[in-house]
Amino acid sequence: MKKNWIIFGTALVTTGVFTPMHAQEVAPSMQKAKIISADYVAKDYSYLYGMSGFSDALLKMHFQLYQGYVKNTNLLLSRFKELEAQDRDMSYDYGALKRRFGWEWDGMRLHEFYFDNLGGHDPLDKSDPLFQKIVKDFGSFEIWKKNFIATGQIRGIGWVILYRDPQSGRLFNTWINEHDLGHLSGGEPLLVMDVFEHAYITQYGLDRAKYIAAFFSNIDWSKVSSRYDEVVNR
Ligand SMILES: [Fe+2]
Repeated sequence: MKKNWIIFGTALVTTGVFTPMHAQEVAPSMQKAKIISADYVAKDYSYLYGMSGFSDALLKMHFQLYQGYVKNTNLLLSRFKELEAQDRDMSYDYGALKRRFGWEWDGMRLHEFYFDNLGGHDPLDKSDPLFQKIVKDFGSFEIWKKNFIATGQIRGIGWVILYRDPQSGRLFNTWINEHDLGHLSGGEPLLVMDVFEHAYITQYGLDRAKYIAAFFSNIDWSKVSSRYDEVVNR
């Protein structure tokens, strides 16, 4: 159990969101937690090793962080069950852990969207329905790309998501603060880019623009296009 907590604390601190003081506040209850059932399993993204613009060391570290989110999500789910079984779902501990759930779960899922939309080589074909939709909503593909990159340059740590509103069909380049603030309710994520510092700083330093350029050169547009096809034909 101590090992689990070490990973939990490491992930929180390494991602730069929580200070050790915060980690210590949660530690006692987390130390008691044990995984009752592993609801989520970390996906294997090792096939991305060798991708241009992303060193293996950077990817290895990022995969480890992602695995930490999966572990912590399962750990929280486990802890909820324990506290609920003890009729302690009105306790301070339960509420405090409940507040963490969206952060951990989003951290897990957003990394999966991110890694899933990497590893490509070919540009988005101009005849692709997504390309045409981007042109319709933004004026041109280049205007959309410029805005997506500008959104990724917002100071702070977080994500950029090209979201589709399922009701109107409109597309939005959206800034997500950390993992959990700024999501569009019901929004369908099409393209996800990680702009936490851990995603690039060990390779690019503070040159986030260079990292974003590397990201764009590795987008798997077939994956992004299939996400779009899936939601418009749902
Ligand atoms: Fe990340």
